[in-house]
Amino acid sequence: MPNDATPARIRDLPIIQPRVDQIDDHAFLAAQWARGPLARDSIGMVYSFPYGHWAVLFDDRYTRQIETEGIRLRGITEGPIFDFFANSLLTSNAERHRARRTPLARTFAFPMMKALRPAVAATAQALIEPRAASTHVDLLEEIAGPMPALIIARVLGVPETDVPRFTRLVYSAIRALAVRSDDVIREAEADMGMLTEYVSELLATRRANPLGDFLSEFLASVEEGALSENEIRITIVTLILGGSDTTRASMAMTLARLLQHPRQWALLKSDPDRWKGPAVQEGLRFDPVVGSLGRIAVTEFELAGTRIVPGTIFSPVVLTALRDPAVYADPERFDITREDHPRYSPGFGSGAHRCLGEALARIELEEALAAFARYWPDAQLSGPEPRMRGVSGTRGISGMSVSPAG
Ligand code: HEM
Repeated sequence: MPNDATPARIRDLPIIQPRVDQIDDHAFLAAQWARGPLARDSIGMVYSFPYGHWAVLFDDRYTRQIETEGIRLRGITEGPIFDFFANSLLTSNAERHRARRTPLARTFAFPMMKALRPAVAATAQALIEPRAASTHVDLLEEIAGPMPALIIARVLGVPETDVPRFTRLVYSAIRALAVRSDDVIREAEADMGMLTEYVSELLATRRANPLGDFLSEFLASVEEGALSENEIRITIVTLILGGSDTTRASMAMTLARLLQHPRQWALLKSDPDRWKGPAVQEGLRFDPVVGSLGRIAVTEFELAGTRIVPGTIFSPVVLTALRDPAVYADPERFDITREDHPRYSPGFGSGAHRCLGEALARIELEEALAAFARYWPDAQLSGPEPRMRGVSGTRGISGMSVSPAG
């Protein structure tokens, strides 16, 4: 047995227990964490539960992002999905990551996002206000799904008439990023190819005719030869995909939590502009849409008394970090008035890959919540209680229907 002086080995860690189907993600993970801050699965992937590990786990002296290793394990070694992983900023490291992220970060910066807020608010109003008297709204289909696609289409200058096709492609292609059945992957693969093709056409149009908009500035800021043509288009595809499912699920689930907590819903309604930011922040904490992240150790180090060897695959669990009692008082309580959020929400990741769309996501979520509070003051959840499910990657959300008229 290891003692204080000898770090434990990975194989000494508790093994993640089989999951009883009905158990909710938080309860399942809390039970795993109760057995120790690290756990492993049968193939040696290491799960880390406390937020306190993040400073090490997202430091590129100790770990790096997973590149194409995961997709290769799924037997995908070529084609549009493989191209996405091989060329995206999300799945790259060091110099390639910097080259891909810098031009985007420069043009997708906070002031530009801020300038977009009135248009985002107008889009939210246009989707939400006309449904105020309705007794049945499919929230995902009618509002939370379309809104991020409409906004990113606007940022990219997608012509109005193309928006429905664009939206359909986005939600089909995005399935390629999760582990799905072979049939689903085949369909998603074809749509990923079409989305990438569509982006190439947009880029060609903008090159021929710069407009001074986001895409024109992005193209101008990609220095000659710094990125391959594939990298340029996949950068834009990453931006489109990164902001769609995530914002959609967060919007729906945060509204659901508010409707389940009438006093907090009343607080938001009492002053939507004062409370929309805190409500979004707490919604992102309580039901994070990214359940866990992935990293690979690049060196030997010790974590929580365990010796980590290079090549170890880590899964820093976002769900538990966001309910870490060392960070959040009474973490199981949904409370939009809490003041103990860290400066950088773990829900958007950490380190070099921290979410590039955070400002846009917050603006979209805030303006949607403010519009719900203003135009649907009597809203009630109708139908089965919506639930988010999943621990790895982007979590799924079950359907959600709302009766705006009460
Ligand atoms: C609630 C909404 C969102 C959540 C919870 C979220 C979460 C995250 C997380 C956790 C990461 C880090 C992934 C990793 O470290 O492996 C990430 C990266 C990223 N996100 Fe988001 N995101 C959201 C919305 C958006 C939006 C609206 C956009 C853009 C329109 C966006 C674009 C990106 C991009 C481009 C990256 C890759 C950054 C890089 O690898 O350097 N995200 N996001």
